[in-house]
Amino acid sequence: MHWTLLYFYGMNQKINQHIVLVLGASGATGKLLVAELLKRNVQVRAVVRTPEKLSHLQGAANLKIIKGTILDMTESEITECISGCNAIASCLGHNLSFKGIYGKPRKLVTDSLRKLCNHVIRAKMENQVKIVLMNTAGNRNRKIDEPISLAEKCVIGLLRLLLPPHVDNERASQYLQDEIGFGYDYLGWAVVRPDSLIDKDEVTNYMVHVSPIRSALFNAGKTSRINVAHFMADLITVDSVWEKWKGQMPVIYNASLGS
Ligand SMILES: NC(=O)c1ccc[n+]([C@@H]2O[C@H](COP(=O)([O-])OP(=O)(O)OC[C@H]3O[C@@H](n4cnc5c(N)ncnc54)[C@H](OP(=O)(O)O)[C@@H]3O)[C@@H](O)[C@H]2O)c1
Repeated sequence: MHWTLLYFYGMNQKINQHIVLVLGASGATGKLLVAELLKRNVQVRAVVRTPEKLSHLQGAANLKIIKGTILDMTESEITECISGCNAIASCLGHNLSFKGIYGKPRKLVTDSLRKLCNHVIRAKMENQVKIVLMNTAGNRNRKIDEPISLAEKCVIGLLRLLLPPHVDNERASQYLQDEIGFGYDYLGWAVVRPDSLIDKDEVTNYMVHVSPIRSALFNAGKTSRINVAHFMADLITVDSVWEKWKGQMPVIYNASLGS
C-alpha cells in the first residue's frame, strides 16, 4: 500500500530565511522554482549558462544570477556559490536535441551533484545543506520494493542503451542513495519524481506518493512543472515537509490526473 499525502496549495507556511543555489534555473521547471522561492522571500543563487533567460526576474532583490555551469567552475567559484547555502536544488536536464542527448557532458546531473556534494563535505559546512533533486517517475527507488513488470524492465533496458539522460537520472539518484545516504549530519537529500511534465499557469492540488501509483511508461500520469516547483520549494522551506520526505524519492502527480 502506498502512503499518500494530498497537499492543498497554500497549506504550508515559510518559516525561515534561506539561501538556495538553483541549478538548471533557466529551464522550464527551474525558472518556476526560482520564482516560487523568491515569492517566499528566499535568497536565490541561480546558476545559468544564459542569464537572459531569467531577464523577467532580473532586478529581484533576493536573486543573484551566476553565469556558468557547475562542471566548468573552479573550486573557489564553487565555494562562492555554496557559501552560506541551506539548500541546493537541481532542475538540470539534458536538452532535447541530438547534442543534448548524446553529446557531453553525459553525466551532467550526476557529476554536477557529485562536485557540489564533495565540496560541501570537504568544507564541513556549519549549516545543514539540503539537496533537492528533480528526477523522474521513470526511475525506480532501488531501496524499496517498487514493483515493475517484465515489459517495463525490457523498455527500461532499452532506454539505458539508447538514452544517456535516463542513465544520468538513475545514477544521480543512486549517488545520493548510496554515496551520500544518511552518512552526513549536515547533508540531507530528497529526490522528486514527477511523471509526464505539463505546463500550467497556477499551482493546483497535487498528490505525493512514496512510489509510483501507475506505470510511467505505459500509463503515465501528469505533473505540472509549477507543482513540481512548489513541492521542491516546500521541501526547502517547510520543515514538516522536509522531515516527511528527506532520504526518499517522492513521486508527484497532479491531484486531477487528467489535467
Ligand atoms: N519531460 C518530461 O515529461 C519529464 C518527466 C519527468 C521528469 N523529467 C526530468 O525533469 C528534468 C527537467 O525538466 P524541464 O522540462 O524543466 O527541463 P528543461 O527545460 O530542459 O531545463 C533543463 C535545464 O538544464 C540546463 N542544462 C542543459 N544542459 C546543460 C549543460 N550541459 N550544462 C549546464 N546546464 C545545462 C538547461 O540550461 P539551458 O537553458 O542553458 O539550456 C536548463 O536550465 C528533465 O531533464 C528530466 O530529466 C522530465
